[in-house]
Amino acid sequence: MITKPMYGFLLLFFLFTFNQNLCYAQVLPTTTGFTCNPSQFNSCQTYVYYRARGPEFLDLASIGDLFSVSRLMIANPSNISAPNTTLVNDQPLFVPISCSCNTVNTTFGSISYAGLNYTFKSGDTMYGVSTNKFQNLTTFQSVEAINPTVVPENIDIGESIKFPIFCNCPNRTQPRYLVSYVFQPSDNISSIASRFRITPQSIRAINGNNSKIFDTLFIPLSRLPNLTPPAPSNNTQPPPPPPPSPVEQKDRKGQIIGLAIALGICGLLVILVGGLFFREKSKKSEKFSDVERQKSLYVGSKKGSFSNKDVEVNLMADVSDCLDKYKVYKMEQLWEATDGFDERCLIQGSVYKGTIDGEVFAIKKMKWNAREELKILQKVNHGNLVKLEGFCIDPKEANCYLVYEYVENGSLHSWLHSEKTEKLSWKTRLRIATDVASGLLYIHEHTRPRVVHKDIKTSNILLDSNMRAKVANFGLAKSGCNAITMHIVGTQGYIAPEYLADGIVSSKMDVFSFGVVLLELVSGKEAIDDEGKVLWAKIGEFSEGSEERKVKKLQEWMDESLLREEFTMESVMNVMSVAISCLSKDPSRRPGMIEIVYALSKSIDLFSDISEEGLSPRQVTAR
Ligand SMILES: *[C@@H]1O[C@H](CO)[C@@H](O)[C@H](O)[C@H]1NC(C)=O
Ligand SMILES: *[C@@H]1O[C@H](CO)[C@@H](O)[C@H](O)[C@H]1NC(C)=O
Ligand SMILES: *[C@@H]1O[C@H](CO)[C@@H](O)[C@H](O)[C@H]1NC(C)=O
Ligand SMILES: *[C@@H]1O[C@H](CO)[C@@H](O)[C@H](O)[C@H]1NC(C)=O
Repeated sequence: MITKPMYGFLLLFFLFTFNQNLCYAQVLPTTTGFTCNPSQFNSCQTYVYYRARGPEFLDLASIGDLFSVSRLMIANPSNISAPNTTLVNDQPLFVPISCSCNTVNTTFGSISYAGLNYTFKSGDTMYGVSTNKFQNLTTFQSVEAINPTVVPENIDIGESIKFPIFCNCPNRTQPRYLVSYVFQPSDNISSIASRFRITPQSIRAINGNNSKIFDTLFIPLSRLPNLTPPAPSNNTQPPPPPPPSPVEQKDRKGQIIGLAIALGICGLLVILVGGLFFREKSKKSEKFSDVERQKSLYVGSKKGSFSNKDVEVNLMADVSDCLDKYKVYKMEQLWEATDGFDERCLIQGSVYKGTIDGEVFAIKKMKWNAREELKILQKVNHGNLVKLEGFCIDPKEANCYLVYEYVENGSLHSWLHSEKTEKLSWKTRLRIATDVASGLLYIHEHTRPRVVHKDIKTSNILLDSNMRAKVANFGLAKSGCNAITMHIVGTQGYIAPEYLADGIVSSKMDVFSFGVVLLELVSGKEAIDDEGKVLWAKIGEFSEGSEERKVKKLQEWMDESLLREEFTMESVMNVMSVAISCLSKDPSRRPGMIEIVYALSKSIDLFSDISEEGLSPRQVTAR
């Protein structure tokens, strides 16, 4: 009786976790959390430093509920003898969390956090819960990022949402704990150091110099110090808790078992209630006939599905323009094509490989916000842009599926940065660069209104069987120019500084990202390294000194596999100078795509002098 709804839940959970491509990613490390490398990260039990605050959080029970731990689990490390003690305002506590490295999505990468489920109550907002209840141990941007299907303005009371509490785990050379601590307005590094009886240097060694107010710092501790409650400032504070009694110590085990049982029962209840809830909803949606479902899409009725918000109305309205242009697939077709969206068919993120009528396609699963991508793809048609073949809408699950041409050779990222034995030749790299530039030139200059891709990076550049490049993933693209957005999207390492700082959207931000792609093509290095350093920070070094020095520097930095080839260094230097101009901090000083295509074709000329087979830059034409 429970199993059926539970399957539903699991399926939903599965869908939600794997629906990754369209998530809006915030990129500043301080607002999105702390990037981590899943292959090197050792998960750990650690603590957050939390301050008891009235009126809601002055007892261990309510704080325990917030962090899904028992009162004793907080009392023990926090030097509190009786779990039912009333706390004083600002009393410090160590609350245990389980920290791990979680891959959020392809755009966002991985961040380390402890995921805590929070059930929304009346008056709660994503922002309020992050900043007040969790006291800035997370940010609402990261909550949005890990809950891509949740619309922040539209959270129902009783809905449970995962909050990522920022955390970090030490490596073998670091102290045992890296406690998450939120920098307070009255703090400085020295005062924090003396509170934890460690040196300011040890805090800087982990956190660097940036200690912005309300940012999370990691405090390296080999053992937890005894915490003492702040001195009561006036007589409204309750007296300090009594010293620990030996009886209670003995009794602890019993209490823990009792609590565990209680929690278990609660958990079961939650599942049961959740299951019923789910059944109610699914029953309701099953009542809709297909016709009604379609109708509900047009009129935007909220009854038919889970998160069908207003978007769907617009989606169908937009889509209806191009219904004859694209094939509309049936859900069963896609299900069959991908073996029921089997993991074996997963290409990357939420994109699956599927065979329909003997033809191979890439099928991308997304929530309703497919609208933007559909709207844009409908306008573009160019040999260097991945072609949309059709789509499918599944109102029951509130999913939309886009069916693209399948591009055989995978992403440029995988060619440059994985352990492939086959390396790209300079000639191929040059051709890829011109292909991408042509694709961008087309969307920047030949669409009305203009389209800015906003997320140019090597993993969004796909290579076909002839190693010609196609730009993919218009999920973040915007039409219109020089708009200002408050919602920073894109990928760290590729984002133009003016966009990060002021949210200015223009075609020049694609030019910047393209510059980073050129650097990757030349160096074979990733846009952002394991330590979070961006590749483009290096470029200053290549425009200083004598010509000879520049060449030498470049040769040291270049992809080793290229050095084995015979080609003119001049061609590489030329590409580097294009890259450097693309990466100019001032957007108005960056070249336009047309100039870039021209400059790159010069590089091809320089190169083809010594190559047997001459290459001409691809014509920039719309098919
Ligand atoms: C915390 O521990 C220290 C040393 O064990 C003790 O002196 C102090 O009274 C304790 N504080 C509380 C609130 O229990
Ligand atoms: C969290 O940060 C916001 C500003 O970013 C601030 O207004 C708020 O008071 C902080 N919350 C706490 C509990 O310190
Ligand atoms: C541990 O991390 C620190 C900095 O985060 C780094 O300098 C050190 O090399 C790392 N040690 C190991 C063994 O990975
Ligand atoms: C941090 O700041 C101090 C002075 O405020 C400076 O001497 C030191 O070099 C800085 N360290 C880093 C890593 O920026």
